[in-house]
Amino acid sequence: MPEPFLKWPGGKRWLVRRYSPLFPSTYQRYLEPFLGGAAVFFHLAPRCALLSDTNKDLVNVYQCLKKHAKTIDQQLCDLQRKHSEKLYYRIRAMRPTGSVDQAVRFLYLNRTCFNGIYRVNLKGDFNVPIGTKNLVAYPDGYLEVVSKCLRHASIRHVDFEVAIDGAATGDFIFADPPYTVMHNNNNFLKYNSSLFSWSDQVKLAAALKRAAARGAAFMVSNADHLCVRDLYAGLGNHFQVNRSSILAANSLRRRKTTELLITNYGCQASKRSTGAGAVGLYESPKPTSQKA
Ligand SMILES: C[S@@+](CC[C@H](N)C(=O)[O-])C[C@H]1O[C@@H](n2cnc3c(N)ncnc32)[C@H](O)[C@@H]1O
Repeated sequence: MPEPFLKWPGGKRWLVRRYSPLFPSTYQRYLEPFLGGAAVFFHLAPRCALLSDTNKDLVNVYQCLKKHAKTIDQQLCDLQRKHSEKLYYRIRAMRPTGSVDQAVRFLYLNRTCFNGIYRVNLKGDFNVPIGTKNLVAYPDGYLEVVSKCLRHASIRHVDFEVAIDGAATGDFIFADPPYTVMHNNNNFLKYNSSLFSWSDQVKLAAALKRAAARGAAFMVSNADHLCVRDLYAGLGNHFQVNRSSILAANSLRRRKTTELLITNYGCQASKRSTGAGAVGLYESPKPTSQKA
C-alpha cells in the first residue's frame, strides 16, 4: 500500500502504524467522509470506497490523480528542476483554471510549504510561506500506484452528513473530523472551531448513530475530552490512544497526547494485542445531558 501522498494536518499515519488491529477486517464499502490525506484509506486499500471532503481543491487532487497520474508526475518532475523560492511564490500567486494544473499547484505547494500546513485567508487564498523541504517530485512510479488504489473509489466534494447518510448495512465508515470541543481550551482547538463547530460535532454523532441503526460499522476519532466522551456515551467502545504531536515546528514542543477513538463494533485490540499497553479501553460513560 502506498503511503499518503500529502502532508495533512490531523493526518492519521500514526494511527495506522500503531493501531491497525482496531479496524474491522471485513466490510462491504469503505466510507471516509473527512478525507484529508487519507492515511487510513491507503492503509486498508479497500476494494470499494466512497471518499469525500468539503475542501474542493483537495478533492480535485484525488480526482485528477485517479485519471491523470502520469501527466501530474511529469509536471512535478519539471517543477523539481526549476524549484526555488521565487518559483514557490510565483506558483502560490497563480490561479490556474484547468483541474490538472490546479492539482499540480496544490501538490507542489503541499510538498514545499512550511511544515505541510494547509491554511487559506478569508478570500480562500493559500497563504503559507515556503518551508525547508525541496522535494517536489515523487519517487518513480509512486503516483501510478496511488492512482491504481483510487481506481475503485468514488471521490466527491460533499459535506460529511450527505456522505454518511449514504452508508448502508455492512459498510464501514472512518470519520476523522477536525477536532473541536464544547469549551475550547487551547489555540489549536480554537482555530478548528471556526472550521468545524461543536454543533457540527453533534450533527456528526447523530449521523453516525443513524448509520449504525441501518447496520453500518463506524470508527470516529476526536479529542480526548470529557464532552466528546459524553457526546458518544452509550454508543460502542471508547479507546484512548497515544500520539505524538508532529505538526509542532520545534521538535522540543512535540509532545505525546492522547486522542479518542469510538467504534460501534468489537475490536480485536486490547492492551495486550496492540503491545505496550498503548490502547486503553474504558467503559462508555452514561449520558449526563441531553444533546440536540
Ligand atoms: C483531520 S482532517 C482528516 C485527516 C485524514 N484522516 C488524514 O489521514 O489525513 C479533517 C478533514 O475534514 C475536512 N472537513 C472539514 N469540514 C468538513 C465537513 N463539514 N464535511 C466534510 N469534510 C470536512 C477538512 O477539509 C479536512 O480535510
